[in-house]
Amino acid sequence: MITNKQRNLVAHRGGLKAPLYPRGSLFERVGGRDIVGEIIDGLYDRIETDTHLRPMFVRSLEEERKKQKAFFEEWMGGEPLYTYHYAYSGLLARHSHIHISGESANRWLSHMKASLKATLTNKDLIKEITEALRPLAQGLANEPQDAGNPKHLRCHRVNRWRNPKELAAKGNLQELKVMIDSDPLLLSDRRQAAELLQAAVRRDHREMITLLIDRGVDVNIPTGLEVDLLLTPHCLAIWKKHDQLSRYLESRGAVYDIFSASFLGDLAAVTTMCGSAPELVNASDPACDFLAITPLYHAVYGNHCSIVSYLFSSGAQVGPASTRLVRRAAENGNVELVHILLNKGADASRVGPGSWVKNRVIADILLEHGADVNYPAGKWVWVSCTGNNSQRDNPEYLAELLKCGADTDTRLRGALPVHHVAKAGHLGSLKVLLDKGADVNAPSDSGETPLLYALKAGKRAAMNSICQILLAAGADPTVKDARGRSAQDIARSLKRTDAREIAETIAGA
Ligand code: HEM
Repeated sequence: MITNKQRNLVAHRGGLKAPLYPRGSLFERVGGRDIVGEIIDGLYDRIETDTHLRPMFVRSLEEERKKQKAFFEEWMGGEPLYTYHYAYSGLLARHSHIHISGESANRWLSHMKASLKATLTNKDLIKEITEALRPLAQGLANEPQDAGNPKHLRCHRVNRWRNPKELAAKGNLQELKVMIDSDPLLLSDRRQAAELLQAAVRRDHREMITLLIDRGVDVNIPTGLEVDLLLTPHCLAIWKKHDQLSRYLESRGAVYDIFSASFLGDLAAVTTMCGSAPELVNASDPACDFLAITPLYHAVYGNHCSIVSYLFSSGAQVGPASTRLVRRAAENGNVELVHILLNKGADASRVGPGSWVKNRVIADILLEHGADVNYPAGKWVWVSCTGNNSQRDNPEYLAELLKCGADTDTRLRGALPVHHVAKAGHLGSLKVLLDKGADVNAPSDSGETPLLYALKAGKRAAMNSICQILLAAGADPTVKDARGRSAQDIARSLKRTDAREIAETIAGA
């Protein structure tokens, strides 16, 4: 938890204005996990029927309830479950696509208060929790007025910055000026405005940078290099070797801080900064608010063993989100860094699947320290077999995952890896799974075979080749799908240029 002194030392990076945590630990006092669960169910039951707030959320609130229970347990001083399982950015970032007016924040609070009253009897405790939450909820308000249209409550507000960000990246000064002049709210969201500045800094568009700073964009607000690692414009300029620009940003008030120095591997600066303010060693970036991203993270993401060793020798702690450190060091292929982190107690058990499986040395170290490619359930199938998120056929990666213990009986969305690769049209991966003994006629939860899944593949998939491989391996073309259609029936109804070949392949089986 961040102390006031730490907060002041790094306050230039922005973040939530309200204190993030309650003053004392509340978890035991409210009565533990079950009671936290009841409070959150009470909150979400009320949100479920609130026509003003409900459109802000996704269709099912089941997952939201789980996340929020984990969050509040951690917030109240219990186990850091939210950090372990869900957090990938801070609270401000997780709410930035939601249109939250002051009035909506009050509605959210009134539901929370009603739920607290229905669950707890101790009035002082209810007051304490409500008072800790009020400034936090108000601090998440990001719009001066209600959206008006319920369809604009979710995701819509971020559209306002889409074009301006493109203009800033292209250095199109005139058009951006017109936009800023015509929309006074464009620069009022500090994080979004900082992203405009960041886009201009990345390509060293000096006039654009000057315009944005002149119009009040804060030169020190960091934005995402990655979702959990935020760099200031100044740090980005140095990293991108825009030397003159970095000096210009300094002349406009940019602060060179412990996070930047750690990311850039500047040991002399890190030593000086920590020497004069030892609290900095474990300070967390206020811009990431709930997620405790300390200088150690910046040093690991920058891949600097010397800084990491110095920070540890000065008392740095790996903290609850240490799995990210291990994963990053492993994905950088940095064996020394992996060793240092594990020796300091970083947790490898939740690393999950990743490109580290391709590095035998690192894979052995991580597996020895409890890494499990089957954690969390189904993720390895998602990242290697489904073709989602523009994923390409990567049989080498799949083979390494299997070597590291990936369980081929894992079911994701009611189907096995062999169904998913067939549907994704991943020929190489299909061969890997069949070689490993995958059952070519295994039923999905709805009784469908990989062959029936192959016939659901997208237009660009090599559907005919996939069907040929499955049939050669003994696929049964007579099995019917949930609607009673055989592979042949489906093949005949396909609307694709190779439909005739596919129908012939199946007919010939
Ligand atoms: C103290 C106040 C609040 C806290 C601690 C809080 C915390 C959280 C957390 C931990 C999540 C889950 C984020 C994730 O990992 O996906 C969440 C989601 C959400 N919160 Fe809040 N929240 C607060 C106030 C509010 C307010 C005032 C609103 C709106 C009026 C709101 C609307 C939402 C919505 C719509 C989601 C779902 C986001 C999504 O589906 O991507 N929250 N909140």
